[in-house]
Amino acid sequence: MSIHISAKKGEIAKVVLQPGDPLRAKYIAENFLENAKLVSQTRGIFYYTGLYKGKEISVGASGMGFPSIGIYSFELYTEYEVDTIIRIGTCGAYTTDLKVFDILNVENAVSESTYAKYAWEIEEESIAHQGKIFDTINNTANELSLKTKSVNIHSSDIFYRKNPEIPAIATKYNCPAVEMEAFGLFANAKHLGKNAATILTVSDIIPTHENISADQREKALKPMIELALESAFR
Ligand code: HPA
Repeated sequence: MSIHISAKKGEIAKVVLQPGDPLRAKYIAENFLENAKLVSQTRGIFYYTGLYKGKEISVGASGMGFPSIGIYSFELYTEYEVDTIIRIGTCGAYTTDLKVFDILNVENAVSESTYAKYAWEIEEESIAHQGKIFDTINNTANELSLKTKSVNIHSSDIFYRKNPEIPAIATKYNCPAVEMEAFGLFANAKHLGKNAATILTVSDIIPTHENISADQREKALKPMIELALESAFR
C-alpha cells in the first residue's frame, strides 16, 4: 500500500495506462483486459491489473491536474516499481488545424506551472516525454496505420480563465492544444529516471466550441486505447 493507492506490492504491473477519469479506467479494464482485478479504489480512483494479449498490465486513473497526477504517478514509480506510465487523455485544440478525434503523441509538455520547480528543482518550462516509449508509440501507430501527430502540448493549471486569448507560453512553444497533466507526469519521470508518454485525443476545438459529445466519447477513445495497449509491450 502507498498513501493513496491500496494495492499490495506486486499487484500493479510494470506498465500502467493512466486515463484521467476513474470510470474510463474501469471501462478499459472491463472491455480490453482479460482477468482484470480491481486492486485499489481509494478515493474512488480505480486501479485494475489484468492481461492484454497474455501480458500483465495495469490501468488506473490520474485524476485531474498536476497535484493529482503528481501523487499517483510518483507512488506508482516509487512504491510499486512501475517502469512506464502511458497517460491517455483528451485535450482542447487552440487551432482549427486540429480536428476532433485527432490523436496526438506529446513530444514536450510546456507549462507556466511551478510544479517541477518546487518538487524537483527542474527549472525548465518545457519537459520532454521520457525514455523510448514515445518512439514506440509512433512506430506502433505506423504499423497499425493509425494517423498520429507528434506535438508540443500546453499543460495548464487552468481550465476556466478570464482572457480568451491563447496563452503566451502556448504560442512561444508552438503548442496546438492544451491539457492539464502531461507536464507533471514528465517531471516525475524525469526526476526518477522512469519512462513516460502521453497520448491525447482531441475532444474539443476551443475557438469553434465543437466537441465530442458524451455518447461519442467511448467510441472516440478506442483507437487511442488500442494504440497505448499495443505500444506497451514492444
Ligand atoms: N483545457 C484543458 N484541458 C482540456 C481541455 C481544455 O480545453 N479539453 C480537454 N482537456
